[in-house]
Amino acid sequence: MTFVPRLLLWSSFVLSGIFDSVNARPGPRPSLLNRRAANDTGRPCGALFDIIEEDLKLQFFPVFNASDVYSCLTAVPFLKDVGLRFIEYYNTTLQFQSTLAYLESPPAEYQQPAVDVVAELGRVKQKVLDDQYIRQLDFEYDIHSIVHAIHDDHVNLYIGITAAFSFASPFDFVSASLDGKALPRIYLKDDIVKARNNGWAEEPSPVATINGVDATEFLAQFSSRNAFGYLESHADWNDMFEHPTNDIQGFYGTLGGQLLFYPGNGLDDTFNVKLEDGTEWNDNWLALLNQIHSPGPLETAGDFYNYFVLGLVPPVEVIEDSSDSGLVFDFEGEDGLKLIEIKIDTDWLEESDEAFPKPEVAQPFLTISGGGVVTGYFQDDVGILSIPTFEQFPEEAKNFSNTVQEFITKAEDRNVKKIIIDLQQNRGGSPNLAFDTFRRFFPQEPDSLPWTWAGSRRRSHPLGDLVGDTITEWWKGLDPEDDVQLFDQWDEAANEFVVATKINPLTNTTYDNWAQYSPGSASYRKDTFSKVERLNLSDDQVLYSAFSIETVEDDPYGYGGNPVTTKQAWKPEDIVILTDGLCSSTCSLFVGFMTQAGVRTIVAGGRPETGPMQAVSGSRGTRAYSNHILDWMFQFTGQLLPDNSSLPNIPIDYETRDTGLWIHHAGLNLRDEILKSDWEKDPNAEHVPRQFQYEAAHCRIFYTVRNIYNMTQLWSDVAKAAWTDPGLCVDDSTGYAKLPNQPAPVPAPTRPTAQDAQIVINTTTTRGGPGQDPDGVPIFNEGDIVAGFAVKRAGLEPCGAGDKCPSNSMCEPIKVVCANGERPKAAEAKYCLPLCKPAVDTCAHFASDVKINGALRCDLRYEAVTKSRKHDFVGLCAPREGIKPQNLCPGRPTA
Ligand SMILES: *[C@@H]1O[C@H](CO)[C@@H](O)[C@H](O)[C@H]1NC(C)=O
Ligand SMILES: *[C@@H]1O[C@H](CO)[C@@H](O)[C@H](O)[C@H]1NC(C)=O
Ligand SMILES: *[C@@H]1O[C@H](CO)[C@@H](O)[C@H](O)[C@H]1NC(C)=O
Ligand SMILES: *[C@@H]1O[C@H](CO)[C@@H](O)[C@H](O)[C@H]1NC(C)=O
Ligand SMILES: *[C@@H]1O[C@H](CO)[C@@H](O)[C@H](O)[C@H]1NC(C)=O
Ligand SMILES: *[C@@H]1O[C@H](CO)[C@@H](O)[C@H](O)[C@H]1NC(C)=O
Ligand SMILES: *[C@@H]1O[C@H](CO)[C@@H](O)[C@H](O)[C@H]1NC(C)=O
Ligand SMILES: *[C@@H]1O[C@H](CO)[C@@H](O)[C@H](O)[C@H]1NC(C)=O
Ligand SMILES: *[C@@H]1O[C@H](CO)[C@@H](O)[C@H](O)[C@H]1NC(C)=O
Repeated sequence: MTFVPRLLLWSSFVLSGIFDSVNARPGPRPSLLNRRAANDTGRPCGALFDIIEEDLKLQFFPVFNASDVYSCLTAVPFLKDVGLRFIEYYNTTLQFQSTLAYLESPPAEYQQPAVDVVAELGRVKQKVLDDQYIRQLDFEYDIHSIVHAIHDDHVNLYIGITAAFSFASPFDFVSASLDGKALPRIYLKDDIVKARNNGWAEEPSPVATINGVDATEFLAQFSSRNAFGYLESHADWNDMFEHPTNDIQGFYGTLGGQLLFYPGNGLDDTFNVKLEDGTEWNDNWLALLNQIHSPGPLETAGDFYNYFVLGLVPPVEVIEDSSDSGLVFDFEGEDGLKLIEIKIDTDWLEESDEAFPKPEVAQPFLTISGGGVVTGYFQDDVGILSIPTFEQFPEEAKNFSNTVQEFITKAEDRNVKKIIIDLQQNRGGSPNLAFDTFRRFFPQEPDSLPWTWAGSRRRSHPLGDLVGDTITEWWKGLDPEDDVQLFDQWDEAANEFVVATKINPLTNTTYDNWAQYSPGSASYRKDTFSKVERLNLSDDQVLYSAFSIETVEDDPYGYGGNPVTTKQAWKPEDIVILTDGLCSSTCSLFVGFMTQAGVRTIVAGGRPETGPMQAVSGSRGTRAYSNHILDWMFQFTGQLLPDNSSLPNIPIDYETRDTGLWIHHAGLNLRDEILKSDWEKDPNAEHVPRQFQYEAAHCRIFYTVRNIYNMTQLWSDVAKAAWTDPGLCVDDSTGYAKLPNQPAPVPAPTRPTAQDAQIVINTTTTRGGPGQDPDGVPIFNEGDIVAGFAVKRAGLEPCGAGDKCPSNSMCEPIKVVCANGERPKAAEAKYCLPLCKPAVDTCAHFASDVKINGALRCDLRYEAVTKSRKHDFVGLCAPREGIKPQNLCPGRPTA
């Protein structure tokens, strides 16, 4: 049988143009009613895919109990050669990631742990070489753990079997304070909406425990493991929950539908919620399919491997990816999820459970899946502009911009005094809209003001320099008299590797050549960096190439052929920006422009503790790039060079490099934003990228029970905090923000250290049987994941001499049982039991690997404390029924 590359089935990545967020987020979480059982005993994955085929034929979105999917994924074997080729590929790709050196050695104000990405990849490679992987899933989880540790929303990875499904909690949660001052608690979203609809006749009851663990503690641990791409734990926290601005975009919180790591324990998927008032709910962790087409008839283990890991599908199946077909999911449906036609709205009422009020201004074609996104509202003398995303197709950008202008004009007509720009959940999009929107509020000449500077730079390295030099020289050599070459010149003017169109701020002219731009001089740690580049937004070729802008009227407001016709309507102090920390990419650029112009930020939510929070914790990088575009650049460079032997090899008949395992999308951040104020101090000094600077919001507020699902209330609380009652700001959250051209009055909190992350067994509260207790000795280091997914062994091993065990495990006596009730030669045998964290990570990971009978369960044995005094429980993965070691049982082992 011949197979076709699965890559061709996906169409959501963009090959050209500057789309700053290329996050291929999975679709919305469907209704639970449609959940199907897949009894895969003896035929892992087979039954699962029978159901997927059936459901998709009926246009239902398949939903499963999480462990049904997990048992399929864990049945996929690992092949060493494939893994090694993937690491080679991914390592080459990540050489273009701008932040490697800063991640390894971040400044103190950076709020996430350091990580040496290349060394971590090397560690995984060594494990492959040492035959430590048996299952594909373990390998992919280890790679994803590295990607998560980068904490950059531009760095994402959709590969192999982990791209196929997401996991989800069966309930929707929010985090909110009772009155804005009390620390937030966890609530079921439905309870909040119900109480609101009943006019708050009754207060909703907070969630006391999840699976027996204090709800706040459960989610604190859970979010640090599962949140993706944020610069601090407050944003990680917000990322878990439901939010009206997610609803109107068809997204769920990460907990509600975007989990990458399997959250259950492999045996049962229990999800138990107890409310403070005693109400109790039981359900199961769920699994959702991430693609809207059937993988076809997968029957043999080989089929699974080909499909999942290599990305090859049997040719017999006619496959349609309906993600572009104008259909979206209706997850309100009575009998589960069905595909329906895209719905065009005039407001967001229905999508947001009526959290959004009726807008006074709305972009045409408001839809849940893109199209119109901008809305405007007026409350008393406050105008609110809601921009949930900057992601727009080129043909939609004009309407986006016009709607912003319509809002401003109407607000002026109504004599509106104050403006809130609501950017909650805004993960970026097309950067021209950041420039455009900014200049609608500040229409002065850009060069008379510093704040649309948007300077950036990239990591220099030999491969990047070779590509940049080759492509820049090719572009410079194009002959505009030749039609084909003229076309190329326009098409590629904004190509990232054409530096001849980028402005050098030292001279205010474009760079002559790549060597001038990337001389490999400015260094930090092991890395060197290019000079700073700026985009020329008045250059028609650049606008055409970057944003598909074909006529001058469509140029960003105040650039090129679209001159300013309005006047600034509000002083900076009369505008505030509202975020939830999840602001990323183009959103970051926009907030940067606005704050440098003197606009203040208010950030909402965060972990249930007081203190400051940053307004922009998504990627602050200026260019999301992808492996596919990179491969294309390699291929192009290879064709231009007489000697292309130093480039990665690309087969001539195939569009990408050998990726080892199947990659749907590998995102990276190509350029870092460098602040103008930093650059001006000394253009040749080391400049800390904005990504690694602490940028506190001017004020932080908690979401409240009253405002989390009522935007009217939220905006009115924001207006109060901004202009009339600063006392609404969370304690100790003000005074940390940097002011334009001034240092922050209060220094940033220090980064949580590796020490804080270490867990120390507290032997005085040992609750288990005897064992070797490493008294007070840190037994795992930051970066190790306790049991669950990152700690792996092929089976339980007997303890060594002196009861020695590898780190992450402890020597414990285990009861020996033999077949047919035979008497064992010894009642107990000592084994190294891996550590586990009950309720968070589990032993599921080991269950099918262990070369003993009886699955493991996570057995609570020790109370531990972290150095920051947060309680934590540590257990051991113990066999459920004792072990059956052959050397301790009479008779011959059976086959
Ligand atoms: C999901 O798991 C629960 C508990 O194991 C079980 O009762 C239920 O029938 C399962 N549902 C489906 C659809 O498999
Ligand atoms: C699953 O299928 C196996 C083999 O067909 C059968 O023995 C087992 O009883 C089934 N389990 C359930 C829960 O239906
Ligand atoms: C990744 O690439 C860098 C630069 O070429 C090299 O130094 C390093 O050894 C590679 N690491 C792995 C794990 O392949
Ligand atoms: C832009 O808005 C106009 C109405 O003002 C509408 O006719 C047109 O279809 C919209 N275009 C897009 C791409 O949304
Ligand atoms: C470049 O232009 C900026 C204003 O845009 C100006 O402040 C700066 O002095 C200029 N630099 C040079 C070297 O001309
Ligand atoms: C930007 O592009 C415009 C239009 O091509 C050109 O006139 C201007 O000189 C460019 N700016 C710089 C700094 O190169
Ligand atoms: C290098 O050049 C050869 C000969 O033109 C070509 O076959 C090969 O595909 C090129 N390699 C790359 C990486 O493009
Ligand atoms: C939201 O809050 C406002 C102000 O408190 C109130 O007037 C409105 O009725 C609330 N909306 C809903 C849907 O309950
Ligand atoms: C260990 O637990 C005991 C008893 O609960 C407590 O007194 C002691 O302070 C704990 N040790 C540490 C280091 O927290």
